[in-house]
Amino acid sequence: MRSQIKAIVYTSNTGFTARYAALLAQAAQLPCYELKHSRELPSGTSVFYMGWLMAGQIKGLKKARKRFHLAGVCGVGMGSPDDNPPDELRQNNHLDEIPVFSLQGGYAPAQIKGVYRLMMSLAAKVMSKKAGQQGETMRKALTDGIDFVSSQNLGDITGWMQKN
Ligand SMILES: Cc1cc2nc3c(=O)[nH]c(=O)nc-3n(C[C@H](O)[C@H](O)[C@H](O)COP(=O)(O)O)c2cc1C
Repeated sequence: MRSQIKAIVYTSNTGFTARYAALLAQAAQLPCYELKHSRELPSGTSVFYMGWLMAGQIKGLKKARKRFHLAGVCGVGMGSPDDNPPDELRQNNHLDEIPVFSLQGGYAPAQIKGVYRLMMSLAAKVMSKKAGQQGETMRKALTDGIDFVSSQNLGDITGWMQKN
């Protein structure tokens, strides 16, 4: 596993990113910290950062970037890596020189509160208008929730960690 990475650090709103971070930490045998509870990690530590996606932005990235050396970054969204390609995440989040990954987390409507709930209800109106099977899946996910978290989705990241 990538020797210079000392920890997995993450930001999660409803738990999907937290679960991926825990699975990755286990696979890579690294400690895992929520960004807001990562004070014991010295600043400048080399970490792999994971954050949930909000309107294409990787949450917590700015703060993580200020504190740590980001050896790699992963965005976790409701959409698949086809919907959120790493190159697009790189561009939207100004991550030019950093390896970027994309994972599909899920959607937990009951756990979304406050301003995020309002934002999502607006986005849901747009997303629900998609036609065909994709639209049907989206409508069901937005109402009932959906969970894609699986250790099998981590192959690209663990493979990259092993090679580097
Ligand atoms: C306000 C808001 C905006 C979102 N924007 C996106 C988005 O742009 N792309 C996406 O794939 N998912 C988006 N999502 C879905 C979350 O990224 C997804 O549910 C993710 O798995 C949440 O991870 P968490 O459980 O770690 O918070 C959005 C969710 C909320 C509440």
